Amino acid sequence: MSKMRVVQVPRPNGPFEIVEREVPEPGKGSVRIKVEACGICHSDSLTKKGLMPGLTYPRVPGHEVAGVIDAIGPEVSGWKAGERVGVGWNGGYCGYCDSCRRGNFFACLTSTRITGVTYDGGYGEYMIATIEALARIPVELPATDAAPLMCAGITTFNCLRHSDAGPGDLVAVLGLGGLGHLGVQYAAKMGFKTVGIARGRDKEELARKLGAWHYIDSQGQDPATELQKLGGAKVILATVTAADAMSSVLGGLGVNGTMMLIGAVPSLEIPPLQLLGARQAVKGWYSGTSIDSQDTLGFSVLTGVRSMNEVFPLEKVSEAYERMENGKARFRVVLTMEN
Ligand SMILES: NC(=O)c1ccc[n+]([C@@H]2O[C@H](COP(=O)([O-])OP(=O)(O)OC[C@H]3O[C@@H](n4cnc5c(N)ncnc54)[C@H](OP(=O)(O)O)[C@@H]3O)[C@@H](O)[C@H]2O)c1
Ligand SMILES: [Zn+2]
Repeated sequence: MSKMRVVQVPRPNGPFEIVEREVPEPGKGSVRIKVEACGICHSDSLTKKGLMPGLTYPRVPGHEVAGVIDAIGPEVSGWKAGERVGVGWNGGYCGYCDSCRRGNFFACLTSTRITGVTYDGGYGEYMIATIEALARIPVELPATDAAPLMCAGITTFNCLRHSDAGPGDLVAVLGLGGLGHLGVQYAAKMGFKTVGIARGRDKEELARKLGAWHYIDSQGQDPATELQKLGGAKVILATVTAADAMSSVLGGLGVNGTMMLIGAVPSLEIPPLQLLGARQAVKGWYSGTSIDSQDTLGFSVLTGVRSMNEVFPLEKVSEAYERMENGKARFRVVLTMEN
């Protein structure tokens, strides 16, 4: 049997190890993907640090996968070898539990397939995925463009399209990292009056180039006051990794405004009197399922939304991850498999 290289995390807070493994065979309802590119999402730190329930080791992280189907398992129809596919955080669902039968696939009550957490993800030359997890990649998108859209893209796109904002509404995107810089682009393309909020003035020019109508420097200005001067936000897309940054913009919500919470902060203080007085909400949002990913890819082709990437070969995974972790990456780090 031929071998492949993968990057594994051996234990919580362990180093990345590049190891050789047997190329796996796809089981029932699954395909093998020859991975071409995999984005490094901030959520990969949950796998690295052992912060997810159901996580076992050693584990191959990576849930922003783009590649090509190279082998088909038993009982698979509708997919064939050679098709270009992407895989995100949602690794599949059962299709028969009450939640799935109501169409709430990402709340599946029986499946615990989280890519790069409960089964091996895309930091490697090959991976196995169930067919529910597959999104078709349009021909216009090279693998390095498609990969970050499988989490950073789908999460911001799907969240915004399911928010209460309509064309012309004030929508603030808090944080301009991997998710945030895509969030600004999607918000602008959806016709929202888009406000970018980040630390410092150095990201202003970029935010405006990405489509922001206005920019707030959260270090030099009070973001809540600034949003109120603009009429109050209908939606705040909170993509930052710091809870205090989220708390500091909550006061910028308008009447009936909602903070869509995407950043995985451990806890968050909210002001109940403010929320009830103005019928505001804080709502969590999980990325979505494979068809949401496919919609994201399609919308990105249609409107020209792209992730700005720094590309590293698989061998440089530690350096690449470090750039994400310390906030140096502008804006997404993507690993490529030179195979
Ligand atoms: N809900 C979901 O389904 C989902 C999906 C993917 C990711 N996530 C989560 O979303 C978050 C962002 O992921 P990412 O990949 O975009 O991360 P990233 O590229 O590392 O960006 C991190 C962002 O957090 C901001 N930030 C970091 N420290 C901060 C501080 N002390 N004060 C204010 N802002 C701070 C940065 O702000 P500046 O722009 O000002 O530098 C940057 O915008 C993570 O928590 C990740 O786990 C959730
Ligand atoms: Zn992610």
